[in-house]
Amino acid sequence: MKTLILFTTRHGCTAKAAGMLQSRMGQGADTINLMTDSVPALSEYETVILGGSIYYGGIQKQMTEFIKKEQSQLASKRIGLFLCAAEPGEKALKELEEAFPEFLRARAKAADVFGNELDYSKLSLPEKLVFRAVKGKRRRGDGLSSDKINKFAAKMLG
Ligand SMILES: Cc1cc2nc3c(=O)[nH]c(=O)nc-3n(C[C@H](O)[C@H](O)[C@H](O)COP(=O)(O)O)c2cc1C
Repeated sequence: MKTLILFTTRHGCTAKAAGMLQSRMGQGADTINLMTDSVPALSEYETVILGGSIYYGGIQKQMTEFIKKEQSQLASKRIGLFLCAAEPGEKALKELEEAFPEFLRARAKAADVFGNELDYSKLSLPEKLVFRAVKGKRRRGDGLSSDKINKFAAKMLG
């Protein structure tokens, strides 16, 4: 039962989350960065986990385009969905709902927002301005939730 974790990221938080998830999924989980790696044949995988991060309210367009292109194959997989995002609680769940289409959310064994991490010093100037507007004087994200990632992996394996 092979698992493919496919992610998009701008500053690396989602790559880290995908790695944490991979280590909890056991043998046979491959991790692919949709923005830089070539994607293996989906037919080799029974489970596909999709993850991205939210900027200005939306997920990376590479993820949206991939889902559109592979819609028919994805519709027959076991699915997991996750985000890295700074918004808390209800707002984060709303972002999750808007990031992934209904046909995937309906199939998902697990779907969650794992939290956020950002190194302020690595942001572009416009990003810094937005980050400060959202986070005030804080210079880092709130961190990724190991607990949420553990629970997500347990649901996917169950
Ligand atoms: C310019 C900018 C805009 C952002 N916009 C949002 C947003 O609309 N909603 C949200 O929940 N998080 C937002 N974030 C937080 C990121 O989603 C979060 O830091 C995430 O961990 C980044 O993941 P990545 O490094 O994988 O791209 C924003 C961050 C920056 C710097």
